[in-house]
Amino acid sequence: MTEKLKILAISGSLRRASFNTMVLHACQKLAPDDVSIEIFDRLGEIPLYNEDLRAEGFPPAAADLRARIAAADAILIATPEYNHSLPGALKNAIDWASRPPEIPLAKKSFAILGASMGAMGTIRAQYHLRDILIFFDGTVVNKPEVFIGQAQNKFNAQGDLTDEPTANILRMLLEALKAQTLRLRASGPGA
Ligand SMILES: Cc1cc2nc3c(=O)[nH]c(=O)nc-3n(C[C@H](O)[C@H](O)[C@H](O)COP(=O)(O)O)c2cc1C
Repeated sequence: MTEKLKILAISGSLRRASFNTMVLHACQKLAPDDVSIEIFDRLGEIPLYNEDLRAEGFPPAAADLRARIAAADAILIATPEYNHSLPGALKNAIDWASRPPEIPLAKKSFAILGASMGAMGTIRAQYHLRDILIFFDGTVVNKPEVFIGQAQNKFNAQGDLTDEPTANILRMLLEALKAQTLRLRASGPGA
């Protein structure tokens, strides 16, 4: 049996009832059979980036994030939109995962998505996130773009996704991430 492709999913929201985290739980159910999705749930434990802290050794939650990114075949990020950009907690986590000695985010295979209660569905936040990911020289799925607006109407009280068009586009995104990741793997290290 071939091993499953491992995706590490990161929600940029710390909120218990986060729509972005709900979307990632939906992705776990919608993923292709040969793909597993683990959700990183320690974002709120990561201290604000401080070079002095780093000099003392990576704080435990930051070290855990770095190790899990390194062990993953691909990274899936669900970002809320805060004031037309991504939340500080998510940017902070990315900063911790961007530092040497080894840079866990370097050359990774990424996909991004986002959910908001407004009509725009995190378009602006996702374009900022895409810009940030350029630094890592990785590859980000271009299409489909997944902007989930009016998120409050797309989940039931248990947090399950109830909107079939959203489920369909998530399936397409996960297939695209899988194909991209396999393509990068086939092109070898340093590609
Ligand atoms: C500080 C803050 C700023 C926000 N700014 C925006 C914004 O610029 N655009 C938008 O569509 N929604 C904005 N919102 C609303 C969020 O999209 C909404 O709270 C969403 O549910 C957050 O994602 P979550 O459910 O995953 O926590 C903002 C919310 C907060 C708390």
